[in-house]
Amino acid sequence: MHDDIAEILFTEDEIAQRVGEIGRAITRDYADVADEGIVLVSVLRGAAIFMADLARVIDLPLEMDYMAVSSYGSGTKSSGVIRILKDLSTNIEGRHVIVAEDILDSGLTLEYLLKNLSERHPASLRVATFLRKQTQPQAEIDCTYLGFECPDSFIVGYGLDYAEHYRNLPYVGVLKPEVYR
Ligand code: PRP
Ligand code: MN
Ligand code: MG
Repeated sequence: MHDDIAEILFTEDEIAQRVGEIGRAITRDYADVADEGIVLVSVLRGAAIFMADLARVIDLPLEMDYMAVSSYGSGTKSSGVIRILKDLSTNIEGRHVIVAEDILDSGLTLEYLLKNLSERHPASLRVATFLRKQTQPQAEIDCTYLGFECPDSFIVGYGLDYAEHYRNLPYVGVLKPEVYR
């Protein structure tokens, strides 16, 4: 275990198992509409690792695309005002879109994205989020596919960063307080 990690919440094996289950659920749910086109969308940068793993356990043809967003102004996510830094390369009209996120915290990122993407008239639009933090308040987001619920503590790994570090840890762990204090 990395020196800066106090505790492992989800091991590499547990993650692989859960992502496999989500992949099989999506494969089952989308089998009949796959010929209309499935687009997996991930939100850079945290969701890149989850989406890469998820895409490989969905046994259907699909496209992968990416968006990058950033909060406006003061830089706090709680503003809810979000700016698109990189948009999709794909036209999603009439296609089945699954947004892959690493974590739902305040929910403002997904709230914005879902509204923005729905205006492009996809055939369907659903969320697969690897983690949902027990944050209060949290925007009401319908997470059709959810990996794990997690406590409202400082967690890193499997895509999640602290100051851009720890994204490449293969597990999800709690950061030691002395690291960010
Ligand atoms: C994190 C995380 C989600 C978002 C969740 O991204 O990856 O995208 O915050 O927070 P919310 O539910 O409160 O909106 P971040 O903005 O840190 O960028 P990153 O993915 O590049 O780390
Ligand atoms: Mn993110
Ligand atoms: Mg981050």
